Amino acid sequence: MNSRNNDPERIVPRENIDFGLDASIPRYWYDNNPYKTRVMDGMQLYFPDGERYFITSVRPYRERITDPILARHVKDFIRQEGQHGIAHTRFNQLLRDQGMPVEQMLALQNERNAYWLRHYSADFNLALTAAFEHFTALLAEAFFSRKEVMAGADPKVKALFAWHAIEEMEHKAVVFNVMTNVARVGYLKRCAAMLYATWQMTYETYRSTDVLLKADGFSWLERKRLFITHLPWMYGRKGIFSSFTGKIIEYLKPGFHPDDIPVVHNYPHWIEAYSQSGDPGKACEAMLAAAH
Ligand SMILES: [Fe+2]
Ligand SMILES: [Fe+2]
Repeated sequence: MNSRNNDPERIVPRENIDFGLDASIPRYWYDNNPYKTRVMDGMQLYFPDGERYFITSVRPYRERITDPILARHVKDFIRQEGQHGIAHTRFNQLLRDQGMPVEQMLALQNERNAYWLRHYSADFNLALTAAFEHFTALLAEAFFSRKEVMAGADPKVKALFAWHAIEEMEHKAVVFNVMTNVARVGYLKRCAAMLYATWQMTYETYRSTDVLLKADGFSWLERKRLFITHLPWMYGRKGIFSSFTGKIIEYLKPGFHPDDIPVVHNYPHWIEAYSQSGDPGKACEAMLAAAH
């Protein structure tokens, strides 16, 4: 077993952080760009219920965990995800206040999650959760390892995403360890779940962005034009999602473990600044100052 799995303290739940998420945040908080903003808004909108689905997927296995360190990791993973849900629910309220169809979007998501839980095996739901957790563990690398990606983002929203990305890296191996060591999910099911999750993430990112932009008043033609002109920003050589491709392929390798992928280089800067100041904004700035 990888040595970091044996560190009971590797996951640090940080509770009741105030990000100051309020109406002072501009509607288009990311580069004053509707498309970029709505891609991120669409992604974050699904976090609270997505995280509840993750916790539900792990729950059937909790009693079967005999390793006390893994049991502690699962407990801390649930605490972290619970806090993420609270913070992103606040952000969702801002989207509601802007007139975004948050309820309809969440209702669709919950229908889909309930369908998965009803129709797919517990093992497959766990494998899907492990796959989604792989994506969230990569957010820090995608958004915070290079200075330019978040340069034009609102500081409060940036701080929220940085904190979430940091904690996702801390608990990135938990569901995977439950899946392989407790549920004993095999290689093919793990890979099938990753392919399914990749398709879901890609489709949902496109669809939710489109729904939000439509609610903003952009016509069909304007939305297609925005999508096409932002393809390089998403999937180009330095695209925000481009770093995911190689990491998905790594996940598909037999014998892969999430700890094979190193923690992002500027992780310690966030940790140090946060422990000194208790301020997620300062921690985020310190992380970005150390970015490439
Ligand atoms: Fe999370
Ligand atoms: Fe997570």
